[in-house]
Amino acid sequence: MRPFIICHMVTSIDGRLHPSRFTPAAVGVSADVLRGHYEAVAGRFGAEGWIVGRKTMAEMAKGHERAVADAPAVAREPHVADQKGRSLAIAIDPAGRVHYGRDNIGGDHVVAVLGERVSDSYLAELREDGVSYLFAGPEGDDLPGAMAQLATVFGVRTLLLEGGGRINGAFLRHGLIDEFSTLIHPAIDGVAGTPSIVDYDGADGERPGAGQALRLIGCETLDGGMVWLRHAVEQAPGSAAHG
Ligand SMILES: NC(=O)c1ccc[n+]([C@@H]2O[C@H](COP(=O)([O-])OP(=O)(O)OC[C@H]3O[C@@H](n4cnc5c(N)ncnc54)[C@H](OP(=O)(O)O)[C@@H]3O)[C@@H](O)[C@H]2O)c1
Repeated sequence: MRPFIICHMVTSIDGRLHPSRFTPAAVGVSADVLRGHYEAVAGRFGAEGWIVGRKTMAEMAKGHERAVADAPAVAREPHVADQKGRSLAIAIDPAGRVHYGRDNIGGDHVVAVLGERVSDSYLAELREDGVSYLFAGPEGDDLPGAMAQLATVFGVRTLLLEGGGRINGAFLRHGLIDEFSTLIHPAIDGVAGTPSIVDYDGADGERPGAGQALRLIGCETLDGGMVWLRHAVEQAPGSAAHG
C-alpha cells in the first residue's frame, strides 16, 4: 500500500511553472486573492503532508552543511524523529544535498527520502536537526518503495505532490499520481523552453504518461478568474496496470 497522491500545482494558461514570470493580474483583479487560492485549495484535501523535489526543497531549507565528527556507521533504515503530530514536508533528495538546520519547513516536519549511498556524516546531521529520513534504494530512485514506506512507517494516507516539474514527471512515469489538482492563473508566461508543471527528465521518445488516462472530475472558477481543474488518473484502455 502507498498513500493516495495528488499533484497540486499552480500554472499559467500555457502550463508554465514560475508564477514570478506570469503576466500581472488584470485591472480589478487582486493578485493577493489569486495567490491565496493555492494554500486554500490544498487545505481542502486533508492531506497529511506534501512532497517536493530536491531543487524546490533546497530553495526553502535554510541550513548549512556541517561535518559531524565521528558519525557512527548506521544501517540504511528509516529514522523516525519526533513528528509532534505535525504534517510532513517530504523532500526527494537522492544524494543528500539539502541541509535543514531544524526539523521543519514552515511548521511541517521534514522527512528526507534519500539514496543509501549518502554519508554517515550527513545522516548524523539530519538526526541532530531532528529530521526524519528513509531510503529509496541504493540510488534513491525507488520512488514506489519510498511511498510505500511513508504509508507503513509514518502512517500517511494522502499526500500532495507539489513540484517542481521534474519530480512531478518522475512520479508520473512511475504511475504514482492518483489525481491532478491544477490551478490555472488568468496569466501567461509565453516563452519557449520555460519549465512546465510536469517536465519529465528522460530519454527522447519516452512517454511518462504511457498507459494512463485522465478523467475530468472537477472544474470550478475561483475568485479573480482562477480555474481549478481536478483530473483522476486512470489506467488507459487496453494497457497493463503499473507494477
Ligand atoms: N508553480 C510553482 O509555484 C512551483 C511549485 C514547485 C516548484 N517550483 C519551482 O520549480 C523549480 C524546481 O523545479 P525542478 O523541476 O527544476 O526541480 P524539482 O522537481 O524541485 O527537483 C528536481 C530534483 O529532484 C531530485 N530527484 C529525485 N528523484 C528524481 C527523479 N526520479 N527524477 C528527477 N529528479 C529526481 C533530483 O535531485 P538531484 O539533482 O540532487 O539528484 C532533481 O534534480 C524551483 O525553482 C521552484 O521554485 C514552482
